[in-house]
Amino acid sequence: MMLHKTEAEIASMKQAATLVSKTLTEVARVLKPGMTTLQIDTICNDFVRDHKAVPSFYNYRGYPHNVCTSVNDVVVHGFPNEVPLKEGDIVTVDMGVILDGWHGDHAYTFILGNVSPEVLQLVRVTKESLYKGIEKAIVNNRVGDISFAVQEHTERKHGYGVVRELVGHGIGRNLHEDPQVPNYGKRGTGPKLKENLVLAIEPMINMGTKEVYTEDDGWTIRTRDGQPSVHFEHDVCIKRNKALILSDYSIIEAAEKANAELNSSYY
Ligand code: MF3
Ligand code: CO
Repeated sequence: MMLHKTEAEIASMKQAATLVSKTLTEVARVLKPGMTTLQIDTICNDFVRDHKAVPSFYNYRGYPHNVCTSVNDVVVHGFPNEVPLKEGDIVTVDMGVILDGWHGDHAYTFILGNVSPEVLQLVRVTKESLYKGIEKAIVNNRVGDISFAVQEHTERKHGYGVVRELVGHGIGRNLHEDPQVPNYGKRGTGPKLKENLVLAIEPMINMGTKEVYTEDDGWTIRTRDGQPSVHFEHDVCIKRNKALILSDYSIIEAAEKANAELNSSYY
């Protein structure tokens, strides 16, 4: 069952999504080589709780942390740990919150210092594919139009692997609502999009093969070939001519840029 939200509910959901954006902005401000993903978890948990919300992933189906931190070949659901991040790594921070009963869930892949041109391109193209998908998130289109746009840009245009096992989703009072939003598919297929349906669109794109496996911890998903994977996620409200993006990358990107300039000025 697809749940369509009222304008007032959309406004509340924008608050929840924006709180995640602000949390990721806190990460962008301070992220640097030497930091651990457990420190990222603490920063996020503290910030969210200071803003009258709770992290939604903690204990979701037994998930044991507040955020997912997925480094290099980890696709999604990486556990925060004590291993220091190093120059050249990429790390996706995926976070969900519940604010006033509404879920926000979005993700951003950060780079640490000098990353190879190949990895930079994977990061850029995956982010672009998210926006290509969002362009199709309008009234009377179908879910498959979003899926196709993401796959077209990443797999067909750049030869990357589109992960099949994990998909985007509706979001609202629950973290996961109908419909599922795959990152591959055919145009003109799947459920029809109506005004004020809210979707979490989240391409997970591998540099190499699309194949993944789950580690023995039951959560961590890695690429089969050990090559890096990137994940971007926005919460998006279906509208007539142009989707309304509830989350906000502009503040994360501004902090990322300021942080990069600060760190490079040390040399
Ligand atoms: N963004 C992911 C999703 O929408 C995160 C879920 S991880 C879990 O499915 F820890 F909550 F399970
Ligand atoms: Co999600």
